[in-house]
Amino acid sequence: MKLLVVCLGNICRSPMGEGILQARIAEAGLDSWVQVDSAGTSGHWHAGRGPDPRAVACARGHGVDISAQRARQLLAEDFEECDLILCADDDNLRDARALAPAGLEARAVLWLPWAGIDGADGVPDPYYGDVRDFETSWALLDAAAQVTVRRLSRRDDSGIIPA
Ligand code: 4NP
Repeated sequence: MKLLVVCLGNICRSPMGEGILQARIAEAGLDSWVQVDSAGTSGHWHAGRGPDPRAVACARGHGVDISAQRARQLLAEDFEECDLILCADDDNLRDARALAPAGLEARAVLWLPWAGIDGADGVPDPYYGDVRDFETSWALLDAAAQVTVRRLSRRDDSGIIPA
């Protein structure tokens, strides 16, 4: 099972999402069968770069080291290789689906609604914000990661993989 977290630049939200999802998966002992990666719909701007230092600091504050991640652009092949493409916001979902090979569009979902997190459709982009904005994004990503892991732990595959 491979999960891919997607945002715009792959330097703020999706690296934090990859980090916390990986950490929650390891904590639940699911890391032998669930892999996590991240990518950006416009990853070419920042490709090869590490995450934004503010994202690294935010994750570190929560005990997660994301400093070794490197940004990359989302590719059509990701739809073949990943079971679920967890998009941070509506724009990311639209741009991701535009890349999907025919018939695989539904593998991309909007992560927060998919996880049933109330109150927000998308993870707000903290890039032009401050430390508090990173914390807000982190809290939403962690909530979504915890639900995702619960669904995987129950092996509740009914509906986890879009038809
Ligand atoms: P991300 O944030 O999509 O969460 O990685 C952004 C990163 C870079 C830019 C915008 C958002 N940018 O405009 O360069």
